[in-house]
Amino acid sequence: MNLSLHGNRVSTVALPIPGPGRGSARRVTFIGGEMTLAIRTVLCDLLGIEYPIIQGGMAWVATGELAAAVSEAGGLGMIGAGNAPPEVVRKEVHKARSLTSKPFGVNVYFMSPYTEQVIDMLVEEKVPVVSTGAGNPGKYVPRLKEAGAKVMSLVASVNLAKRLERAGVDILVAEGMECGGHIGEIATMPLVPQIVDAVGIPVVAAGGIYDGRGLVAALALGAVGVQMGTRFVCAKECTVHPNYKRAIIEARDRSTVVTGRPTGHPVRVIENKLARQFLELERKGASKEELEALGVGKLRAAVVDGDVEYGSVMAGQVSAMVKKEETCREIIEDVMNGAERVLARLSEIRAGSPVFR
Ligand SMILES: Cc1cc2nc3c(=O)[nH]c(=O)nc-3n(C[C@H](O)[C@H](O)[C@H](O)COP(=O)(O)O)c2cc1C
Repeated sequence: MNLSLHGNRVSTVALPIPGPGRGSARRVTFIGGEMTLAIRTVLCDLLGIEYPIIQGGMAWVATGELAAAVSEAGGLGMIGAGNAPPEVVRKEVHKARSLTSKPFGVNVYFMSPYTEQVIDMLVEEKVPVVSTGAGNPGKYVPRLKEAGAKVMSLVASVNLAKRLERAGVDILVAEGMECGGHIGEIATMPLVPQIVDAVGIPVVAAGGIYDGRGLVAALALGAVGVQMGTRFVCAKECTVHPNYKRAIIEARDRSTVVTGRPTGHPVRVIENKLARQFLELERKGASKEELEALGVGKLRAAVVDGDVEYGSVMAGQVSAMVKKEETCREIIEDVMNGAERVLARLSEIRAGSPVFR
């Protein structure tokens, strides 16, 4: 990040900040001064992207179309492989390639029965970035790197972060339990700095990040960028059922709940009839098998069929902040411009001006 101030005091009023897509180093004239803003981190160089924003790979949700739109807007788009067989994922890779020439990635979910075959396909297709969730990708790392991929792994604990650094992954995504979908038990604010302090490779922050305030907070914690999921579910280019988007847009601060803790696979979802059914069964001490059977096919039911009462509406705590559908470009523009306003405000505070909103 490069923030240099020229001239006198700066003001945050009426910032003529140009949007992304016009170069990441921007000169902005403020009352009484001029400032060069360029929120560019090592993540941008590592991944060949313009802005340090990754759209998380989300099972059923993150298609080639969504990934390409994010990459076209200057971030890193990710396809979510979920439990899909390799040929289905390959089609999404081809779709993304037909829509963008910029780098994009695929998230491999390690609880999928097709993990091995999906990795083979990604090696064959020379996908530039591979992220991994729900497991240890250690044995696949050398092959993926030989094929030219950058390997990025989601972690929710310091121990796993250290193990994966030793396994040779390039980037860690420290994901706090505010996020949508499968979660760990530590929140983003304490998790990110602990992982940053424990490893020597770049760390991206995920979980609970919605706008420029979240990006600057993540950078302050030592991260080199952010991964966002929930806000991108409501992107115009995201093909989830409109009911799914509406459930997020109508969500309030306490609308999400966590199911699955007793089975060791906690998941954050928007509370609905299915979630209440889960929580009731969990309270009654239902068996792991019974609980797992209740979850089968439920994400698909919500994403594809729009059943937001008996389907699993995975979404994070930032749902309450998502107010409308936007294009991926608008989302990225909002995050970057918001971050610049926050930095300008922080400079004011640093310069001794009284704190104001
Ligand atoms: C609907 C949904 C599905 C997700 N599926 C996956 C997945 O398949 N693999 C994975 O590693 N992360 C998955 N995630 C996590 C996201 O990739 C991302 O890290 C997370 O959403 C970031 O936090 P946020 O929801 O607060 O923005 C999912 C998240 C959501 C909301």
